[in-house]
Amino acid sequence: MTTSMEESGVGRDEGAAYDVDLRIAILSRGPRLYSTRRLVEEAKKRGLDPYVADPMKFSLFVADGRIDILHNGEPFNYDAVISRIGHSITKHGVAVLRHLEQLGIWTANTGAGILKSRDKLHASQILARNRIPVPRTTYVRDIIDVETAIDFVGGLPVVIKVTQGTQGQGVFLRHTTREARNLVQGLLLTGRSILVQEYIAESHGKDIRALVVGDRVVASMRRRARGREFRSNYHLNGTVENVDLPKEYEEAACRAARVLGLHVAGVDLLEAKNGPLVLEVNSSPGLEGIEKASGVNVAGEIIDYVTSETAFAEIDLDQLLRTVPGAGVLSLQIRNHPVLVGQPLASLFKPNVDIPVFALSRDNSLLWNPSDELQLRYEDVLICYGELTELRTSLRQAMLEVPQKAFDVPASEETNA
Ligand SMILES: Nc1ncnc2c1ncn2[C@@H]1O[C@H](COP(=O)(O)OP(=O)(O)O)[C@@H](O)[C@H]1O
Ligand SMILES: [Mg+2]
Repeated sequence: MTTSMEESGVGRDEGAAYDVDLRIAILSRGPRLYSTRRLVEEAKKRGLDPYVADPMKFSLFVADGRIDILHNGEPFNYDAVISRIGHSITKHGVAVLRHLEQLGIWTANTGAGILKSRDKLHASQILARNRIPVPRTTYVRDIIDVETAIDFVGGLPVVIKVTQGTQGQGVFLRHTTREARNLVQGLLLTGRSILVQEYIAESHGKDIRALVVGDRVVASMRRRARGREFRSNYHLNGTVENVDLPKEYEEAACRAARVLGLHVAGVDLLEAKNGPLVLEVNSSPGLEGIEKASGVNVAGEIIDYVTSETAFAEIDLDQLLRTVPGAGVLSLQIRNHPVLVGQPLASLFKPNVDIPVFALSRDNSLLWNPSDELQLRYEDVLICYGELTELRTSLRQAMLEVPQKAFDVPASEETNA
């Protein structure tokens, strides 16, 4: 092997201000595809010299304490990567991105983010958990569950979809229990994972696509299906039109991209009676429809974002801390320990020690380094860092010191404490 870690991107001056020296690569199998062409064009306009790398032409090397990467047999020396990974090569594309992340190369979307967004069940679990509105959804593994699923999502008709579908393939509308059961049975037989979803009737044949770049919706459009079709995908010949997105929709779109860890995302939203519902988040959104419908230079927005952000690498804090044995991050959900509600934060830790809580999550916001007098609430989640054994001991101790009758920790943990 000829390339060294330094050549492949680690060990550079992290603080350098990147400008036209920024080496940018676009991971794409189709240099002639509209979105790739537009990204190249906008990068060139900014004096950059972008390289289109085929994600299938990488070789990844892992050895003792070092990893390396080659593209077409050559060292891959780039600072930033914008990925356009097609669904058919998700697994391979994600492997490449993970490798690049480990080398400290800036990626617009992480491998983990792409994986989550490509599994409609996983994505909706994360969205729902973060209180982002989603249609009612059930995951069914057996046809005996179909009726219960239909009831749970609010009755017929229902939408049935495969968890890994794209471009409207694998999305169906069914009006009777029998039809629903037959379809689920057929799909299960082909080994697919199936979701039964609430049908949002008021949004029949249309949806909103919001293009999120960074923390902002840079462009949006409404898509409409043709004729009786209920799926509004552009690739199913849907039409697109400009739309002025209400704040509520912008917020839902930005939060959805953010909780999935995507910096560039196409968020699909349904317009339901009570506001937006996030349907799915696309990690390689097509640019053609949205640039034409909105008149916004989305490719330019992406390039500008990349050039402004590459100096800052995001890190997985937990992974970083774990390089030191015994250290890490842990979270404490107060709802699991209701006895702590109303207690001051300081009561969780030994007197006269610095409070090892770097953030407290409350009402969709984070309180950084909360004061030790802060009173805990039922919905709070504490994020603590430090030496894990010590942290656990301290937290257990705090729970033990409150009246035993309200004690909520499983018996096994009590005896350990
Ligand atoms: N629950 C639903 N209610 C109403 N329309 C839906 C629903 N789910 C999907 N659709 C329609 O079908 C289209 C495709 O569904 P989606 O879940 O985005 O799958 P894909 O990944 O194949 O695009 C959506 O853009 C929307 O128009
Ligand atoms: Mg979609």
